[in-house]
Order: sequence, then structure tokens, then C-alpha cells
Amino acid sequence: MTAEKGFKERYETRDTPWDIGKPDFNLIQTVTTTPIEPCKALDIGCGTGDNAIWLSQKEFHVLGIDTSEIAIEKAKEKASKTNVKCTFIVTDILTSHVEGAPFGFAFDRGCFHSLNSDNERKTFAENVNGHLETDGLWLSLIGNADEQRHGPGPPQQTARDIVNSVEPYFEILSLVSSYFGSNRPNPPRAWVCLMRKRRFE
Ligand SMILES: C[S@@+](CC[C@H](N)C(=O)[O-])C[C@H]1O[C@@H](n2cnc3c(N)ncnc32)[C@H](O)[C@@H]1O
Repeated sequence: MTAEKGFKERYETRDTPWDIGKPDFNLIQTVTTTPIEPCKALDIGCGTGDNAIWLSQKEFHVLGIDTSEIAIEKAKEKASKTNVKCTFIVTDILTSHVEGAPFGFAFDRGCFHSLNSDNERKTFAENVNGHLETDGLWLSLIGNADEQRHGPGPPQQTARDIVNSVEPYFEILSLVSSYFGSNRPNPPRAWVCLMRKRRFE
């Protein structure tokens, strides 16, 4: 089963433990401390929209994309209950060029990390690069393979695998070990990877 199909089924059966009903603190911390100035932003695999809505509240012009119709419907519903303008569409980042590019900032929480092969992760990174303006930034929250786990949890990647797939297309500005924002007592470990689009002369 592809990662994309797996996610669709999980929204249908409401098996969505990543959906914590609030923006991830790693996004808030990175955007506010780097700082990343408001610009056109793309939330890739936005799920039900909490991170995209937070960015909109901080004056970013946000497009959230996801392959799940259910997730996008929920994201639109949430956004309609706030005062922010935030657009959500069903699109696959691996196969489509998203209208509205180039973006100044791309974000994903748990989308890039769900790809199992180096080739797929490289395609993802190349596509993100292709949607960003010169010097555009990508922040990715990725399951951390340094966590020894005995039970279910998010996909995990090693630092080596991350570097190997993103390095051809991005300069890594920081790769920090952290935890996913969560409502549970022992949140899964995460990598917080901030990257800048490479210039190809
Ligand atoms: C772990 S969930 C995280 C959702 C959201 N970012 C959050 O933090 O709640 C990963 C999301 O990526 C979406 N996704 C997976 N593959 C995708 C693709 N190729 N293009 C766009 N979205 C994708 C899934 O449908 C799912 O909503």
C-alpha cells in the first residue's frame, strides 16, 4: 500500500494520532526565533489544517495541500471558523505542480517522513525545491530513528537518510533532535530540519 493510500484510509477510519488539534510547537518556535518573515507559504500534507491556520494568523499567505479529501474538508471547516484567509486544496506534491508557486516558505509535518525509499524522498525534496523562490526555506518535522520504539508510532528516518535525500536540493541550516508536539505524555522523537533552497547556476 502506498503512503498516500494508507493516509486516506486512516482519515476514513479516524485513526489519526498526529492530528493534535493545535499547531506543533516546533513550527511556532522555528518561525518566531529564526525568525521567518511572513510570506507566501505552502503546508505540504497539511492534514486538518492547524499549522496552516496558525501561519495565516501570523500574516503568512498560506496554501495547504493534502491528498486526503476528508482532511481538506476538515481544514476548510476549521478555517471558516477563524478570521483568517487560508486556502486548502487536494493535491499530491509528488505528481503535481501546485498553482501559486513560487512560495517563500514550505512546511511539512509528517509528510516527507512517510516516504520509504531514498528515490521517493529525493523526488519530494526536488519538488519542494521547484515550488520555492530563490533562497526559499523548507521546515520539515520528521520521525527520529534514534528513538528505540516498541509499539506503533510515526515513521522514522535517520539523520543520514534525511541528509542523503535533501542535500542535492537544499542547504541544511539546522537539524535538531526534538519531540513532536503532542497531547500524550511520551511524545515521539522528531527531527526538526530547516533548509534553504539551493541555487543551481
Ligand atoms: C502524518 S499526517 C500529518 C498531517 C498534518 N501535517 C499534521 O501535522 O497534522 C501526513 C499528511 O500528509 C498527507 N500526504 C501524504 N502524502 C502526500 C502527498 N504526496 N502529497 C500531499 N499530501 C500528502 C497525508 O494525507 C496526511 O494528511
